[in-house]
Amino acid sequence: MPSVPTIETPRLTLRGWRDADVESWVRMNAHPRVTEFLGQSLTREAAVSRAAVIRAELEHNGYGWWVAEIKDGRRFAGAIVLRDVPFEARFTPASEIGWRLAFEHWGQGYATEAAAAALDFAFTRLGWREVVAFTAAMNLRSQRVMERLGMTRDPADDFEHPAFAPGHRLRHHLLYRAMSKRAPLR
Ligand SMILES: CC(C)(COP(=O)(O)OP(=O)(O)OC[C@H]1O[C@@H](n2cnc3c(N)ncnc32)[C@H](O)[C@@H]1OP(=O)(O)O)[C@@H](O)C(=O)NCCC(=O)NCCS
Repeated sequence: MPSVPTIETPRLTLRGWRDADVESWVRMNAHPRVTEFLGQSLTREAAVSRAAVIRAELEHNGYGWWVAEIKDGRRFAGAIVLRDVPFEARFTPASEIGWRLAFEHWGQGYATEAAAAALDFAFTRLGWREVVAFTAAMNLRSQRVMERLGMTRDPADDFEHPAFAPGHRLRHHLLYRAMSKRAPLR
């Protein structure tokens, strides 16, 4: 079983889970602004059991949902994920990056800073050739993170997310891509 790698940025540490993080994760996922474009807020019970699953996945795979901790004060900022896209679509199989910050930490550049380092980890340490990110068309903040990261969007890649029923306000999704700048292995 690989140990959980730590990813450092100037202001953040992306690290494995500690028991105390679960309470912060629960609070983050109960906030209506955080879950506005995710489909549902998580009940305490659902958030606790989700945390156990993603903690075990990170510890088993060496990538997954990292806790993003602010170095100054060692506060929980949110979580950053690298994973295989867990549903079928035109663009799958594919590897995905995603982000979720506690509401009180929005607007400080933490998501972009953490995601840039995670993307670099995906390309240099995991050897991934391409990473996608996607979000509901209404989620402009998340799209701005993708753009700040230099990810690119082709409108022809837009898709209907299978987790949302036809006609649901969040079903229409935009896809962004980032390519590794490394030469392909021969
Ligand atoms: C999506 C999400 C992570 C974006 O968070 P965010 O704080 O807006 O994004 P960043 O961390 O990149 O911060 C950028 C903002 O910080 C500002 N900022 C302040 N200080 C900064 C600094 N030192 N460096 C960089 N940016 C800074 C930027 O100007 C920018 O503000 P703006 O968007 O008003 O122009 C957050 O809204 C979130 O968690 N949403 C809920 C979950 C979600 O929807 N996830 C995506 C699902 S696909």
